[in-house]
Amino acid sequence: TSSLQMELTAAIRNIPDYPKPGIMFRDITTLLGNPRAFRRAIDELVHPYAGTKIDKIAGVEARGFIMGGAMAHQMSSGFVPIRKKGKLPHDTVRIAYSLEYGVDEMEMHRDAITPGEKVILVDDLIATGGTAEGAVKLLTQMGADIVAACFIIDLPDLGGRKKLEALGVNVHTLIEFGGH
Ligand code: PRP
Ligand code: MG
Repeated sequence: TSSLQMELTAAIRNIPDYPKPGIMFRDITTLLGNPRAFRRAIDELVHPYAGTKIDKIAGVEARGFIMGGAMAHQMSSGFVPIRKKGKLPHDTVRIAYSLEYGVDEMEMHRDAITPGEKVILVDDLIATGGTAEGAVKLLTQMGADIVAACFIIDLPDLGGRKKLEALGVNVHTLIEFGGH
């Protein structure tokens, strides 16, 4: 475990039994509120792509917007919001995705990506991977060249990383937590 990983882990607040008994909620708001930890997390997320021209960062509502805006600014890339259904005003592509309990739908604007553009997908955390898988499918439908999917937190026991890798996506994460 690197000093960076220790710093990021220490900056995350752990809330037992939220949102339900037996779940340990990994609260990133404390990391976001810590100037040094937030900067280091963003620096680390963009680091592998220094020297690569990335056209768009696609962030997943809601917490992926926070990382995605900061990354897009630092990389001089555009930003594409992938939103929960019904929020985007123009023509969209929509996909159903599975959550730990139940399903929802997400969408993006049809003209948000030009086929062949290099795109990095970002969210705060990957758990079951249902959210990220939906986002990857939307981006793929629009012809994006998905360079990687990045997350601050991986919960490897829930299998999301493996699910994305099985789709041929490079996955980049900063820290892991065992269990929930
Ligand atoms: C959380 C988290 C990821 C997703 C990960 O978002 O921010 O987006 O769950 O879970 P998965 O890998 O099992 O799909 P949530 O749906 O709670 O919404 P929010 O980001 O709008 O708070
Ligand atoms: Mg989310």
